[in-house]
Amino acid sequence: MIDKQSPLPMYYQIEEEIKQRIAEDEYRAGDMIPSERELSETYEVSRMTVRQAITNMVNEGVLFREKGRGTFVADKKIEQPLQGMTSFTEDMKSRGMDASSKLLIFEKITAPFDIARKLQIDEKADVYKIQRIRYADQKPMAIETTFIPVAMLPGLSERVVQGSLYDYIERTKKLKIGKASQMIEATTADENQSSLLDVSALSAILHIERNSFLTDGTPFEVVKSSYRADRYKFISDIYRA
Ligand code: GLP
Repeated sequence: MIDKQSPLPMYYQIEEEIKQRIAEDEYRAGDMIPSERELSETYEVSRMTVRQAITNMVNEGVLFREKGRGTFVADKKIEQPLQGMTSFTEDMKSRGMDASSKLLIFEKITAPFDIARKLQIDEKADVYKIQRIRYADQKPMAIETTFIPVAMLPGLSERVVQGSLYDYIERTKKLKIGKASQMIEATTADENQSSLLDVSALSAILHIERNSFLTDGTPFEVVKSSYRADRYKFISDIYRA
């Protein structure tokens, strides 16, 4: 199992070994892995070495620790392709997961300066400010704050945004969503975000901003979202010119 003559560090070999057990479903999401003491006996290495392996896997999001309880196998991260302009509801459906939302804010406000500029509307124009926690199979995945010009969707209601916004725009309002520009950046969860997302303070967060346009080029939303970095990874195919 562990080759002490190998040039590969022992903590690395332990990581590979545990990851293999996870890949082969020997350890499943939510399972507790053996304690540091047990692992150090099994692999005949020091507890320091085991701790290093576990810490690396916790930082990667493969395992998580619970104080006083032990170390557990984390849910597999959702692999989100970067190419398609999909909705949260579609993303979850395509994985066989149930999408739901908890509405935290639904109000009409005067557009903040940066939002008005991105939506290409008058600074005094009204926008909806909508904040939702997005859940996959009842587990919090992201907090999304969406700004939409009121003039574009005058009939928008709390009930509508409990469901899919894109579905409402396309199927009910018959508007054609065209494209978006999107930015992803690393942050950490503040106190409010960590409690809403059910993660510990200062957990890694993927901050995503999307500026979306109809096919005729009219901007229709600015969305600022905070995704749990322990639940998401973004993937893309790239081509050499
Ligand atoms: C994703 C995007 C958001 C978009 C949302 C719409 O989460 N990041 O920019 O507003 O999907 O999702 P739904 O149609 O489920 O409301």
